[in-house]
Amino acid sequence: MKDWIGNARSAFATLGASIHAEHEREENYYYATGPKAAEFLLEVEPQLCDIWEPACGAGHLAKVFDKYGKLAIASDLIDRGYGKSGVDFLQCTRHHNGDIVTNPPFRYALEFVQKALELIPNGRMVCMFLRIQFLEGKARRKFFDEYPPQTVYVFTSCIKCAMNGDFEATKGSAVLYAWFVWEKGWKGESRVRWMG
Ligand SMILES: C[S@@+](CC[C@H](N)C(=O)[O-])C[C@H]1O[C@@H](n2cnc3c(N)ncnc32)[C@H](O)[C@@H]1O
Repeated sequence: MKDWIGNARSAFATLGASIHAEHEREENYYYATGPKAAEFLLEVEPQLCDIWEPACGAGHLAKVFDKYGKLAIASDLIDRGYGKSGVDFLQCTRHHNGDIVTNPPFRYALEFVQKALELIPNGRMVCMFLRIQFLEGKARRKFFDEYPPQTVYVFTSCIKCAMNGDFEATKGSAVLYAWFVWEKGWKGESRVRWMG
């Protein structure tokens, strides 16, 4: 049996216990993104549409996409009061005929990118809001050789990411972020652009 997004029920059953047990840890993977990041993305990639935000948290990015009529689905593993909860994106198998955009848990960023590319048809986009360090690392280097991002949009001014969604308690940080943008099936020289 599959659920609406292609998750096997059995996988849910197995995950059920661990989702609960890992709830504490998951809390720590929740960093809400300053919605300005979504506004910037739509300015430079205006063709984005039918967006699935698969790690939507409390909807800080998804609400912007919705405001512009570009949101198709918002989901998250954990119920944070927005979108459909209990959806483990990394277990999803149902294809999405649209673009996939999120700020994933950084620890699973590569897995999120790979899964997103697996679920969309050629020509659609995957956009991930990631720390600039995503460019580093041997495993990612191998991945980039096969799946070069079309564009990396580096933020020159700070975009706040608030732990557990608490923007007031979040101080500025030196972490640099970028939108990494893939068009499925595209090969070529990646380009870097600066924004903000
Ligand atoms: C860095 S937060 C970003 C939240 C939101 N995208 C934003 O930008 O405000 C990452 C989110 O990924 C969710 N998450 C973690 N593992 C997941 C998984 N396997 N499937 C779906 N969502 C997951 C967390 O619950 C958390 O809400």
